Amino acid sequence: MPTSGLLRAVLVAGLGLLCAPPLPGADPVATGGGAVASDEADATAAGIAVLGAGGNAVDAAVATALALAVVHPEAGNLGGGGFAVVRMGNAVTALDFRETAPAAATPEMFSLHGAPAPERSKVGPLAAGVPGSPAGYRELHRRFGRLPWAQVVAPAVELARDGFVLSERTHRSLRSSASLLARFPETASVWLPGGEPPPPGSPVRLPALARLLSAYAEEGPPAITTGEVAAAIERASRRHGGVLTAADLTAYRPAWREPIRFAAFGWELASMPLPSSGGIILAASCGILERRDWSRRPRDGVARAHLLAEAWRRAFADRTLLGDPASTWATAEQLLAPARLDRRAREIGRRATPSTRVPPYPVDNRRESAETTHLSVIDGEGNAVALTTTLNGAFGCGLFVPEAGFFLNNEMDDFTTAPGQANQFGLIQGEANAIAPGKRMLSSMAPTIAWRGGEILALGGRGGSKIPTATLQVLLNAVVDADPLSAAVARPRLHHQWLPDVLAVEPGALSEAAERQLRRRGHTIEPVKGTPKVNAVRRLSDGTLEAAADPRGPGSAAVIPPASPPHRSF
Ligand code: DON
Repeated sequence: MPTSGLLRAVLVAGLGLLCAPPLPGADPVATGGGAVASDEADATAAGIAVLGAGGNAVDAAVATALALAVVHPEAGNLGGGGFAVVRMGNAVTALDFRETAPAAATPEMFSLHGAPAPERSKVGPLAAGVPGSPAGYRELHRRFGRLPWAQVVAPAVELARDGFVLSERTHRSLRSSASLLARFPETASVWLPGGEPPPPGSPVRLPALARLLSAYAEEGPPAITTGEVAAAIERASRRHGGVLTAADLTAYRPAWREPIRFAAFGWELASMPLPSSGGIILAASCGILERRDWSRRPRDGVARAHLLAEAWRRAFADRTLLGDPASTWATAEQLLAPARLDRRAREIGRRATPSTRVPPYPVDNRRESAETTHLSVIDGEGNAVALTTTLNGAFGCGLFVPEAGFFLNNEMDDFTTAPGQANQFGLIQGEANAIAPGKRMLSSMAPTIAWRGGEILALGGRGGSKIPTATLQVLLNAVVDADPLSAAVARPRLHHQWLPDVLAVEPGALSEAAERQLRRRGHTIEPVKGTPKVNAVRRLSDGTLEAAADPRGPGSAAVIPPASPPHRSF
């Protein structure tokens, strides 16, 4: 276990005092501090260690993401993809390392004899999109990293090689996904030894992943996307009926994108553009809420809950027009046009509008044609990264490629696999998101950065279609209602996604009286199923740093206070 030469970090939420693994060859140097929030203590510790060694927010985000690929196998990954919104100084940009459909993918691949075969887009490697993470992490670092690449990869190498302690939460995930994992002997031999997940607290070593990560530290993405490892991924995929090839892996390229930029409630915001719908849903919702004076209505009152549900209903209806930016039926500019948001805001009455009466408005350029993990990092200079990465379902398609040491995703289920049928997040999707070779599947992930003067907030979450609604509520709690960050993250939340036409409520989010009144206004209210999790960091205008991991996780958050050089201890 990595336990020597530790940096001490201040834990503000999570799992007790945090011990960061040392960075080989790096003495801690004084920094202006920094903050990291992620889903696992070892991953947060990796980010904190990199900040302590003089790395910037991008170095720390990549180190945290790679550590998650080791210690958080349900979602952290090299076999999936994701998105990152980055703010360096005053410049913001976004990296799309979303998976793509393999070259051999077809719109019919998830039907059998003309009938939808929903399991095929979720279980086994036919469900796998071409992984974007190996190239994505390298590209983020190539453009913005400060420390040498090998130093950023080092904590992950060490965790895989020397081992880590299986957390209670990973044990629980393995147990609840055991029937999926047991379908693939390659997976079961590593993750269900003797037919059971290793007990919490047991040491786990991943030698194949350690070798892969060492080669990745030396050679970059080709260590994974070419040669023997790529060939092994192709073989494993074919063995279980997949169409993913080594050539798909080699051809994959991440893409820099212009973030969705908008202003709301006195803050500037940047969030993820297509192929994620997350930023568009966030911006449309804020636009509608501001037009209806949401912030001036009483907190916890019926009016706020009603307006949230009605705004989301409309934003998610329009989501059906979206897909890969190369082939989408509507653009962000069209969906966020002030006239369209005016009309959407005006439509909202005192009563719930049934979703059947909220069609997506057509636009004039129609072409005929969970499990996720989020991390947020801020460094002492105020650079920030919000990064969400995913295999889609927990452990992706369930196939662990032994020679590579990682799981393949089941992101193909994010395409419209069967028109009119809900996917695993209950989303009914549009033709704009139909499968085509090389195309990126529409996402709901919403890594987001907000700033006002010297204040900066980086946040985002996991939870499929609930990601934009959860992210928005944490944002509103922080920027409108001025909650401390951990309270903003912890506060119970609501969710609506157009279809099913249901307002989903976390326990404690609505009083009984509010629930009664909302029912009277025509809302169907149900307890939420599967709560999304948000991890956030913030710098206040006086330089104070905060980090908050979602207590629903539980995740792990840590701060190096500014102007206090990290010191060796132990
Ligand atoms: O991209 C998306 O929207 C989904 N693949 C995200 C999946 C997810 O958040 C599952 N996590 N809990």
